[in-house]
Amino acid sequence: MIKLEDVTKIYPDGTKAVDDVTLEIEKGEFCVLLGPSGCGKTTSLKMINRLISLSQGKIYVDGRDVYQMDVNQLRRSMGYAIQEIGLFPHMTVEQNVTTVPRLLGWSKARCRERTAELLDLVGLSPPETFMRRFPNELSGGQKQRVGVARCLGADPPILLMDEPFGAIDPITRERLQDEFLRIQDEIRKTIAFVTHDIHEAVKMGDTIALMRDGILVQHAPPAEMLAHPKDSFVEDFVGSDRALKALQLMRVRDVMDETPPKVRIDESLETARGRMQELGVNFLAVVNEDERFEGWVNRRVLRRSGEQVKDVMMRYTVTGRRDTPVNEALSLMLGSAIGNLGVVDRRDKLIGVVTFRSLSEAIQASYSEDEDPDEAHAERETAA
Ligand SMILES: Nc1ncnc2c1ncn2[C@@H]1O[C@H](COP(=O)(O)OP(=O)(O)OP(=O)(O)O)[C@@H](O)[C@H]1O
Ligand SMILES: [Mg+2]
Repeated sequence: MIKLEDVTKIYPDGTKAVDDVTLEIEKGEFCVLLGPSGCGKTTSLKMINRLISLSQGKIYVDGRDVYQMDVNQLRRSMGYAIQEIGLFPHMTVEQNVTTVPRLLGWSKARCRERTAELLDLVGLSPPETFMRRFPNELSGGQKQRVGVARCLGADPPILLMDEPFGAIDPITRERLQDEFLRIQDEIRKTIAFVTHDIHEAVKMGDTIALMRDGILVQHAPPAEMLAHPKDSFVEDFVGSDRALKALQLMRVRDVMDETPPKVRIDESLETARGRMQELGVNFLAVVNEDERFEGWVNRRVLRRSGEQVKDVMMRYTVTGRRDTPVNEALSLMLGSAIGNLGVVDRRDKLIGVVTFRSLSEAIQASYSEDEDPDEAHAERETAA
């Protein structure tokens, strides 16, 4: 969908900002451009919509050389959120958001509706309040959210976004990221998204394009980049806590035991003790007659007096879902009395259990797919 071919940018003062970059972003791909300040991310992005001219190479959008296209048409086909936000100061929020829709001849009513929808999406509500304001009547983070809304204005198939959440507080940013991922899941747009936040990159990107000094060092899905950093620069950049970041990429469904030991709430304590003995485990998940998850028993509570499991069980407080990220599951487990996590479906039926053991086995498995870290390091040292 977007293809950079041997692209170089040398600014008039001789600065080589982008150095022979070849990068292909497929249709529907969310590609995160990542790298330290000054490595050429903004320059690369601005060359795609011709805000900056190329020195060498070619850029294609949908198979067409961008220099063969009408520049206005090119820019209208892609939303652009610039790093400096850049709202038009003499226009209201509504006029800013509908810049492209108005050029495309949308009716007043449709523009208004779209503005309300987008302001709601970026958390500027009630929209009626914000619509009529001018940029100098907004905080920095609010301006940036208007910038994101403007980028999405005409619902373009391609989005170029330059640190779009940079000025936004962490909680709102997290919410926007989640909202964005949800939309992206439904209507897959082709996105080039700049950040220098590795956590944001891992969370958002289908792929990460990591740059250094104008050079594209590695373009790969986050999991692959974390598991197989191409060189020591990538390794340093993605950080030494890559096992923890990898946890963020794994889902509960990848690590849960789908046939956990369990007992029904109305069975006797005797039965529960017998089952634990028989299976050689220290706990049982408790379910009701509809397989709904109710809690846990372990050896300690089974020593209490009572007849049925429900008389002594520990009621659960937290559960996970199939798609809960494993790092979240881990913190839920650390905070729960039993140290396990019950996984339930939408009807609260028990569908699996995550234990520290299943977790550590899954982590080890992901490592054994990995190269031998010592050996790889030695190779790199020799190569360098
Ligand atoms: N107009 C210009 N003239 C000369 N050099 C420039 C110009 N614009 C940018 N540069 C230089 O080009 C290099 C790449 O700049 P660019 O803005 O693409 O970096 P970036 O990766 O977006 O950085 P940041 O994360 O700080 O936004 C930098 O060394 C910068 O100083
Ligand atoms: Mg930049």
